[in-house]
Amino acid sequence: MAETAERISTTLETIYQRSYSSEAPDLRSLYEKAKRDQWNASRDIDWSQSVDLDRGIFANELVDGHGTEVLNRLDAKRFAELNVEFSCWRISQLLHGEEGAMLACSQLVDIVPSNDAKFFQATQVIDEARHTEVLSRYLAEKCGGRIYPLTKNIRTLFDYILGHGKWFVKTVGLQLIAETFAVALFRMLSETAIDPLLRSICKRILADESRHMGFSVLSLPDAIATLSPSETRELEDFTREAIHLVLSGQFPQEAYEAVGMNAREIDEVKRARKEIARGAGSADAAYFRKLFRREMHQTIVTNMQKVGLLNERTSGFLREIGIDPALSTTAA
Ligand SMILES: [Fe+2]
Ligand SMILES: [Fe+2]
Repeated sequence: MAETAERISTTLETIYQRSYSSEAPDLRSLYEKAKRDQWNASRDIDWSQSVDLDRGIFANELVDGHGTEVLNRLDAKRFAELNVEFSCWRISQLLHGEEGAMLACSQLVDIVPSNDAKFFQATQVIDEARHTEVLSRYLAEKCGGRIYPLTKNIRTLFDYILGHGKWFVKTVGLQLIAETFAVALFRMLSETAIDPLLRSICKRILADESRHMGFSVLSLPDAIATLSPSETRELEDFTREAIHLVLSGQFPQEAYEAVGMNAREIDEVKRARKEIARGAGSADAAYFRKLFRREMHQTIVTNMQKVGLLNERTSGFLREIGIDPALSTTAA
């Protein structure tokens, strides 16, 4: 099998649901919105726009280590090259996540019990196919086919999501955690990317991702409320693991190597990155990161509260990971 393909074994219980009356009107209306807001990646994106790789793709402030001594030593041309590699690395991670999401949702069509949820998941399958299509086309046609491999952490997360048999575990991993991260990132890219084509693509994807995140908030509360204490603990442990996997181990080592930086220079970037995470370092980079982190953390905490996963135990997990559990925008 090619290095780019992986086999994951799983046992799923398909529910052939022959009750067609709607039991969850909020999920039906999400399905209506999904049908109304479909778009076509080949028709609705202006692929005639060229991408000026000499200018870079993401906002420069997003490149890890921006404003630090080690990156200030690069001339403008080399920094733009790094920006392109860094952006392609990050887009590659999103792309692999889109593919994994498509597979997980195709499983969800089978295993969610109600037709309200099955109908919505059927729309999410096509949404994720479109996201995979649009991002892979962007990398292939506009960035010279630079596709970086999946990080170990994201692979571990998707191996678990795709290998698990319970729908609510998949939904916590995918729609509640991974897509919350994706929504924050796509929003930031749609507002700040240097490349206008990428901005327009991210804006389109973002509208779909918000719906997907909505699926978890609408479908999970009832399922979580009926779990046994041991199932609840298992789901809480998985939530902690999923947040940890999404937020860590995402350093684009290969992007720095691609522009010829040596191990010592890359270590310098890593150190600077840690300082920025602590609030020190370049003011611009810190500002970007702060906005992004705050929005993402707030959404994770708020959604955990909405679905019934925020309690004393999980608040402790969040604090360990560096997320303030008091950030929820929903009154307790
Ligand atoms: Fe997606
Ligand atoms: Fe999605």
